[in-house]
Amino acid sequence: MEVLIFSDAQSLACKSADLVESQIKAFPDSVIGLATGSTPLGLYKELILRHQRNGLSFEKAKTFNLDEYVGIPASHPQSYRTFMDEHLFNKINIDQSNTQVPDGMSENPLKVGPAYEKMIEEAGGIDLQVLGVGTDGHIGFNEPTSSLGSITRVKTLTQQTIEDNSRFFNSDEFQPKLAITMGIKTILDARRILLLAHGENKADAVRDMIEGPLAAFCPASALQLHQRTTILIDKAAASKLALKGYYKFVGEMQDELLRKHRPSDWISR
Ligand code: F6R
Repeated sequence: MEVLIFSDAQSLACKSADLVESQIKAFPDSVIGLATGSTPLGLYKELILRHQRNGLSFEKAKTFNLDEYVGIPASHPQSYRTFMDEHLFNKINIDQSNTQVPDGMSENPLKVGPAYEKMIEEAGGIDLQVLGVGTDGHIGFNEPTSSLGSITRVKTLTQQTIEDNSRFFNSDEFQPKLAITMGIKTILDARRILLLAHGENKADAVRDMIEGPLAAFCPASALQLHQRTTILIDKAAASKLALKGYYKFVGEMQDELLRKHRPSDWISR
């Protein structure tokens, strides 16, 4: 794992946008996995700005979102489809038919997962997956104890996730307790992964993900198995890491190596 620690959320957003931009520029038809939630908002704002100001084009890109609630229509203000349309898709030149979000209103939600896996496979697999992390260590909606070998399927949300997300629903409104999510194996199959986290409330999950044991109890720790994952975090989210100084040193040594030898080969494919 490459661990990059930033002084603030804005510089973290800029760096993550640099990485996504390099991917899209190198391979305009890249397949990008996307997350919802507050964490990637800075990244999406940056990508929109770069599209508007510098013509960064998403015309040929394909996207697959990590997850969607079961039981609310795509048009619902809290659906992840609505979130993506509002915060990214409607503001860039992506072809809507190239954007996939699991269908949370399928008559049979149990059939959605295998079909979603097939679509990812037919698209050639995910080149770059963007992730956030839950306060309980979930990635996508793979809650603690999710199988590290799981694929896209229906998951029951934990009380903690339901409470974390209750801020988006009115108290008298139906709040989903099930979601369809890419599995941990689906995520690990991505060729390149960027996980973003900021804020003190993520510090425990970030510590367990990077320095804890590999365990289904902290699903994000599965990223320890992935060859090309970059963790971008701010100081608050990094505050409980034991080896902060080492990660900085690794970065410096890496920069020196790349200066001497060849440019970064982080782009996937
Ligand atoms: C969202 C998702 C979740 C979030 C996580 C963090 O598509 O898959 O895993 O990334 O719950 O949410 P925020 O960013 O709102 O703290």
